[in-house]
Amino acid sequence: MPKLEVKNLAAFYGRAQALRNVSLTVDGTEIVALLGANGAGKTTTLRVISGLLRPSRGDVFLDGERISGRPPEYIVSLGVAHVPEGRRLFPGLTVRENLYLGATIRKLKRSQLASEVERVLAMFPVLEQHLDRPAWALSGGQQQMVAVARGLMSNPKVLLLDEPSLGLAPIIVKQLFRTIAEIGRQGTAILLVEQNAPMAFSVSRRAYVMETGAITIHDTVDRLRQNQRVQNAYLGLGEESAPAEA
Ligand SMILES: Nc1ncnc2c1ncn2[C@@H]1O[C@H](COP(=O)(O)OP(=O)(O)OP(=O)(O)O)[C@@H](O)[C@H]1O
Ligand SMILES: [Mg+2]
Repeated sequence: MPKLEVKNLAAFYGRAQALRNVSLTVDGTEIVALLGANGAGKTTTLRVISGLLRPSRGDVFLDGERISGRPPEYIVSLGVAHVPEGRRLFPGLTVRENLYLGATIRKLKRSQLASEVERVLAMFPVLEQHLDRPAWALSGGQQQMVAVARGLMSNPKVLLLDEPSLGLAPIIVKQLFRTIAEIGRQGTAILLVEQNAPMAFSVSRRAYVMETGAITIHDTVDRLRQNQRVQNAYLGLGEESAPAEA
C-alpha cells in the first residue's frame, strides 16, 4: 500500500478548473518529483493533499485512510507536513519560534519542544547559531531551511515540498537538496514540487509531469532523463530551450 495516494482529483478556483483527474502515489521510503510549468497545478495538488483546498472530485489516502475532506490541522496531526511555496515564515518571529509553530498540533511540553528543535537541527546545523534571530534577518537559503525544518517539527510521515529551490543560488540549492535526500533516507516520504528538474531528478526515483491541470507523464527518473519531451521542456537539452537573455 502506498504511504500517500491521490486518486482522480478535480479542483476548481471559482469556475476555473485547476486540476483534472490527478492521480499519484508516494511510497513510504520514496522521494517523488512533481514537475510542471507555471500554472500547471502543482501547488494546487499540494493544497488539496494538505486539506487547504477541497477537491470537487477524487480522494486522498494516507496509509489507506481517506484524509480528503478533513481539516488541515487534522491532516497535519496524521503526519502530512506542507512546506509552502515562498516559505511563508513569520518574519518578525525568531527562528526558534517559527520552528515551535511547526509542532503546535503535537501539544508538546516545553522541554520536549526543545529536544525536537535539537532533533530537527541535526539536519540543518547551520541554523543553530541563528535560533534567536528574527527569520527576516536570515539569507534566502537559510529561510528555506527554516521552512523545511518547521515542516519536520510535526514529525511527518509525508513531507510536501513546494519549489524549495525557488530564488536560491545554485550552490545553496545543491546544499538544500543534499539535506532533502538525507531526510528521505531517514524514512520520510517526500513529494517534491519543482521547476528545477535536474535537481529534482538528482534526489528522486520517480517523477510526474503536470500540464494544464493534468498529469501527462509518469515514469522512473532514469527513463525520464532519456525522454525527448522531458529533455526539451525541463532539462534544457533540446532545440526548443529559450535563448539566454542578453
Ligand atoms: N487562489 C487562486 N485563485 C484563482 N486561481 C488560482 C489560484 N491559485 C492558482 N490559481 C490558478 O490555478 C492554476 C494552477 O495554479 P497552481 O498555483 O497550482 O500552479 P503551479 O503549477 O503551482 O504554478 P507555479 O509553478 O507558478 O507555482 C493556474 O491557472 C492558476 O492561475
Ligand atoms: Mg506553485
